[in-house]
Amino acid sequence: MHSAILTLFPEAIRPYLDESILGIAQSQGNLRVDLVDFRNYTLDPHRTVDDRPFGGGPGMVLKPEPIFAAVEDLERTHGAFHKILLCPRGRTFGQARARELSRMERLLFLCGRYEGYDERIRAGFAWEEISLGDFVLAGGELAAMVVLEAAVRLIPGVLGCAESAVLESFEGELLDYPLYTRPREFRGMPVPDVLMSGDHKAVARWRLEQARTLTAHKREQAQVPPAAPDTH
Ligand SMILES: C[S@@+](CC[C@H](N)C(=O)[O-])C[C@H]1O[C@@H](n2cnc3c(N)ncnc32)[C@H](O)[C@@H]1O
Repeated sequence: MHSAILTLFPEAIRPYLDESILGIAQSQGNLRVDLVDFRNYTLDPHRTVDDRPFGGGPGMVLKPEPIFAAVEDLERTHGAFHKILLCPRGRTFGQARARELSRMERLLFLCGRYEGYDERIRAGFAWEEISLGDFVLAGGELAAMVVLEAAVRLIPGVLGCAESAVLESFEGELLDYPLYTRPREFRGMPVPDVLMSGDHKAVARWRLEQARTLTAHKREQAQVPPAAPDTH
């Protein structure tokens, strides 16, 4: 996969990209990441990427010109990218979409900042708008890392143990079961006996039961209305 990340803060995310799974995927040749500072596409002496909103209001808005120039330059050089616009308005990201994105040849991420994008940036390209959830981050960089990592670890050959991506939460209907490793007892908390039994069928049964219970519990919690605000 070839990914391009358009950001005003490439140095903030470079170290994360070079570690662990994303770093390994790059050294395997399964991933190429181009960090593109779209400030480099400004033409004015002040290298301006944002301006005040027409009509008034707080904050600054990302200008269209440098972003259009950056996207067009990348596509001219490498061919078309599947383009992802990170924003709270987008569709909430999930594992099913991560799996689909893992099969894409080229992904481009646009990381917003300040109050967000001039609307013509949205209109100018066929973006997939992705949100991480109903909260507001200061920028799209962390969201891009989340989406990229979730997709890249599903590229065949990236994970050490291919099975681990198949057995985990959200790949089936169920959340992952509880895991234990050595020591057998830690601060008075023992590992369940069944995991020491050597009985593979009993272990599989226990794990399935646990996964079902955890999944049902999480669904129940999701349906509980939020607590009333604290008025004290
Ligand atoms: C401070 S936010 C802008 C928020 C915008 N004014 C709004 O109310 O929707 C700056 C940037 O952070 C990123 N961002 C913030 N929250 C996000 C979320 N939940 N999911 C994905 N990206 C997010 C987007 O790239 C956004 O353009």
